[in-house]
Amino acid sequence: MQDTLTSGPALLPVYAQMPVTPVRGHGSWLVDEQGNEWLDAYGGHAVASTGHSHPAVVKAIADQAAKLLFYSAAVPHPLREQLAERIASLCPDPLAKVFFVNSGAEANENAIALARKRTGRRNLVSIRGGWHGRTPGALSCTDGARYEEAAKRAGVPLSTKVAFNDIAGLEAVVDRSVAAVILEPVQGIQGARDFAPEFLEAAREICTRAGAALVFDEIQCGVGRSGAFTAAEVYGVVPDALTLAKGLAAGLPIGATVINPWLAEGLTIGDLGSTFGGGPVVCAATLANLDVIEREGLIANTLVIGERIRTGALALGVKSVQGRGLLLGLCLDRPAAEVQKALFPYRVVTGTSADPNVLRLMPPLSFSAAEADLLLAALGKVL
Ligand SMILES: Cc1ncc(COP(=O)(O)O)c(C=O)c1O
Repeated sequence: MQDTLTSGPALLPVYAQMPVTPVRGHGSWLVDEQGNEWLDAYGGHAVASTGHSHPAVVKAIADQAAKLLFYSAAVPHPLREQLAERIASLCPDPLAKVFFVNSGAEANENAIALARKRTGRRNLVSIRGGWHGRTPGALSCTDGARYEEAAKRAGVPLSTKVAFNDIAGLEAVVDRSVAAVILEPVQGIQGARDFAPEFLEAAREICTRAGAALVFDEIQCGVGRSGAFTAAEVYGVVPDALTLAKGLAAGLPIGATVINPWLAEGLTIGDLGSTFGGGPVVCAATLANLDVIEREGLIANTLVIGERIRTGALALGVKSVQGRGLLLGLCLDRPAAEVQKALFPYRVVTGTSADPNVLRLMPPLSFSAAEADLLLAALGKVL
């Protein structure tokens, strides 16, 4: 590593990369430089919601790029307004106001800033195992020693972290100094660890009582992946702010902070901003992507295929399966990294997680029964 940092290629080697160089993609498949096809149960990091290069999404991008590649929100654009309406209509009431950004971290950063502005408080609470991004506010809520150290280096005050599913622990720290409690209803990087419904219900009550904002980070588990458009809907718990990113446009960078009227109250021109946020091309891509999700019944598919993978994995002797829909964590009796590596010769791509024994699956929402069976067959050979 040290040698490659001081000489060699220009690209900083800060990612542990998988042994595949995809040059094309279609549906759940990646095609490498030699023309080999790889089954993608990692979904380009949970981004490829409608699969790779869905023709309808590609066409929407090309058409809009030819008309107007970009203009910022300094001017109105019908697609930006249409997309905001669409997302608001897909989120549970009263989440009805949308701000567009470029990434997950930026969406969380804005949710946190809005909560601080509305409450006039600074403190944040998050959950052990949570991952929210690398910008200051999001970083301060992300669990893990390396992130806490980075936050300290930046002089950012750390959130108070509560143990997973610990209702009494949450109750003990959410007081009138807390601006927001932020959590992922299904913790992605922790290995698709889904909260007990009672915890999320209690979090709602505790926040309401303390006048703190409840923020659901649905950057990984949202956009249909958990079995409804939002995990909030799956759980029947409505936060004050909900953030989306990865799966929205299936590949172009977009994030959205969706808030209720309470958090929107008092906002004036200039309070938020993002040059590239809500540009015409990314809005066209997202609208086309959401059309595909609806037209092809992909949210219902996540439940059917998720269940098929869960049952099949348990039949193979996997200890347990956590997660919702097509955000699944297979709890193994051995290191997940070894299993991920052993699957590469079968040309199957999966993910690891912060839990060394959990293999993370986040395939396209369009993953078919045949593709699920191929994945299970390869797993069966490896386990
Ligand atoms: C739950 C969650 N929140 C936030 C982020 C940060 O998103 P981004 O990398 O787009 O900034 C991620 C990224 O993996 C994530 O999984």
